[in-house]
This record gives sequence, structure tokens and C-alpha cells, in this order.
Amino acid sequence: MSKAHRPQDAAPGCTVWFTGLSGAGKSTLSRLLETELRRQGRRVEVLDGDVVRTNLSKGLGFSREDRDTNIRRIAFVCHLLARNGVVAISAAISPYRDTREEARRLIGDFVEVYVRCPLPELVRRDVKGLYARALRGEIAHFTGVSDPYEEPEHPDVAVDSSAETPQQSLERILKHLELRGYVEAGPEPRSTGSE
Ligand code: ADX
Repeated sequence: MSKAHRPQDAAPGCTVWFTGLSGAGKSTLSRLLETELRRQGRRVEVLDGDVVRTNLSKGLGFSREDRDTNIRRIAFVCHLLARNGVVAISAAISPYRDTREEARRLIGDFVEVYVRCPLPELVRRDVKGLYARALRGEIAHFTGVSDPYEEPEHPDVAVDSSAETPQQSLERILKHLELRGYVEAGPEPRSTGSE
């Protein structure tokens, strides 16, 4: 069947907005989600905080003002993509509740996914070595250590990367997207790595 006739093309675009501390698993989950949705024939774009900060938001720092500017830029691009049928995926810390709500209002078709992970586990993982440096006082305003992170009060989906596998989290996110009508509930089994 040609791509143009696949039923998934009938599903509306949306934005899947990951939020959570650095190292919690936002990028990992966004790439897994991207792979699965592409496999289903969807058009997908990931806006990853680290990547966005090397181009669209180059030069911005980590003050509240700069973080808000970063998030507003990402939200604006997600808005443009989603209204054209794309599944836009944002993977930035986005620490401030108000700014996330602003993104939700702008975009409309918005699914907030809170990637939770306790701080001691993040410090244990410390993939980029930033937590060790932040705890030594070498990075001012480091989210979760010396800068705020406002947890979502009513996320659409909450996953915990210290308590579930990425595949389990992905499965729960996909279920929610199906329930909301952003992803067709197809009969095909998913390639989530479990088979
Ligand atoms: S956000 O607050 O504006 O949403 P974003 O997700 O783009 O942040 O960037 C976070 C990434 O920048 C982290 O994963 C980390 O690699 C890096 N980083 C550097 N300095 C900081 C800091 N002070 N606070 C948080 N992350 C930082």
C-alpha cells in the first residue's frame, strides 16, 4: 500500500511534550517514539533541547528568561509542525509550569509527558558528568540542584525511568496517544524491542 493511503495519515498532528530533569530519559524516549511512529508511516520531528541549543537557540543560557525564550521557540516550531499533520516531539527540561502551559495553549493538540527520575538516581547515572560538577558548585543554576524544576501537576502521562524500562514507558505513551486519537490503534504488533 502506498504511504498516502495508509490509515495513519488520517490521524491529526500533535505535540508530545516531554519534560523532566537532565538525564531523566527525555531524549531516549523521544527517539524511541520517533522510530515507532515512523514505522507506522507518520511524519515525525524531534526538537531536542541539546540540539536546539546548538542552532535555533544558540547563545541562550540558563536564566529563567533564556529558558523561557528557548521553550517559546520550541513551542512555536512544534505548533507549525503539528498543524501540518506532523507529530512534533519536544525533549527539553522545560522547568517552568507557566511556560509549559503557555505552550499547551498555543499548540492545542498537546500531550505532556513527565519523565520522572529521583535525583539520587540521576546523580548515580550522571551520563554527562554535569551533576557531579553542579554538586561541587561548579555550575550555577543547574536544574534540580541549584535551580528550580516545577513538576507537572496534571501531566497527561507520567513515566518513571528508575522504575520501568524505556519500552514500558513507550508503550504507555503510545496507549495514551491512541486514546486521544493522535495515533491509530492498528492491529499490527509494535516493534518495541520486546519481541
Ligand atoms: S531548558 O531549561 O531550556 O528546557 P534544555 O533542555 O534546553 O533546558 O537544556 C538542558 C541541557 O543543557 C541539559 O541536559 C544539560 O546537558 C545542559 N545544561 C547546561 N547547563 C545547564 C543548567 N544550568 N541547567 C540545566 N541544564 C544545563
